[in-house]
Amino acid sequence: MIRRKKIGKVIMAKTILEVANLKKYFVQRSGMFSSLKGNEGIIPAVDDVSFYIKENQTMGLVGESGCGKTTIGRTILKLTPATSGRIIFDGEDITSLAARQFRPFRKQMQIIFQDLDAALNPKMRIRAILKEAMTVHNELSDAEVDRKISELLENVNLKKGKLTSFPPELSGGEKRRIGLARALAVGARFIVADEPTSALDVSIQAQVVNLLKDLQKHMGLSYLFISHDLRIVELMSHKVAVMYLGKVVEIGMADRIATRHRHPYTHILWSSLVEKKSKEATSVSEGARKGGWGVFDFERPTAGCRFAPRCPVYEANGRPSECIDPSSEPQLRDVSDAHKVACHFPL
Ligand SMILES: Nc1ncnc2c1ncn2[C@@H]1O[C@H](COP(=O)(O)OP(=O)(O)OP(=O)(O)O)[C@@H](O)[C@H]1O
Ligand code: SF4
Ligand SMILES: [Mg+2]
Repeated sequence: MIRRKKIGKVIMAKTILEVANLKKYFVQRSGMFSSLKGNEGIIPAVDDVSFYIKENQTMGLVGESGCGKTTIGRTILKLTPATSGRIIFDGEDITSLAARQFRPFRKQMQIIFQDLDAALNPKMRIRAILKEAMTVHNELSDAEVDRKISELLENVNLKKGKLTSFPPELSGGEKRRIGLARALAVGARFIVADEPTSALDVSIQAQVVNLLKDLQKHMGLSYLFISHDLRIVELMSHKVAVMYLGKVVEIGMADRIATRHRHPYTHILWSSLVEKKSKEATSVSEGARKGGWGVFDFERPTAGCRFAPRCPVYEANGRPSECIDPSSEPQLRDVSDAHKVACHFPL
């Protein structure tokens, strides 16, 4: 049941998740005795990120490999502790809740893992995986389990025959459906879908997207939808956040980000999509992974604008000092309604 708040005559969807100034820094050790030798490096995988997601809506999260997308998802769900910042779910600050206090929220906040081969126990049959998920927080009779499993299979369009299979016997698309069924089995209202369509054929990608959208419509689900595939992000998302080196550099409604973006990095991302569309590329995600998106390089600047070494606008403007001034890292600023950009010279 979707709950909405009435303000005057306008019905406003309520905020299901709010993230404020979230940071997740990893310590990178370069050897067994690195901490003794003092050669530990800090990886600012998520560096002061803020956003909110409305109930029954999807926020797409894009950015090149290693920019921190999965880390945001895992930190929100408290699968890894935040370094600092706040996570508010359904109006409750869950950032510092101990495991026991967090339990009621845990079942409402689920993830479909990027690597489902690692996330689904290969030695458990599908039925056992779903049963485990639905009984971890609730005591259910065998009859109730059977009824709920049938309902779930119907929800995710899977045949009953698959219940006796083991995960390695399933196709990529079927594994995604099981990942989703497992999240629903627990009682999810908010789902982090981490690359739910990667490594799938285009037709199966469409099935997974349609399924996610259908479930959203009928069950009022909210998603953080992480993907390299900009076309699918556009299709799925109400709002899109673009990440670069641990920071959100642009955020706004999906159509604005796709067609009226203001950050040079967003422009590069979407221009490569337009190029690919015109070449009728069959798989954007593959191309993006292998092509221009590159890999997060921690040698790049972490002061001033992190995008400066790759920024065409910085070059075109004669390398303005603001862009590399360590004391003036560009912050997200409103450029129009619900559209924010972190750039000193937005397009
Ligand atoms: N447990 C960890 N320990 C140390 N570093 C980590 C850990 N998890 C992630 N990182 C680093 O944090 C950065 C962000 O990783 P993350 O997995 O969030 O990226 P991503 O945007 O999801 O990338 P991809 O698109 O390839 O999935 C990476 O450089 C990664 O190496
Ligand atoms: S602040 Fe400067 S370097 Fe950074 S994105 Fe904007 S123009 Fe480019
Ligand atoms: Mg990832």
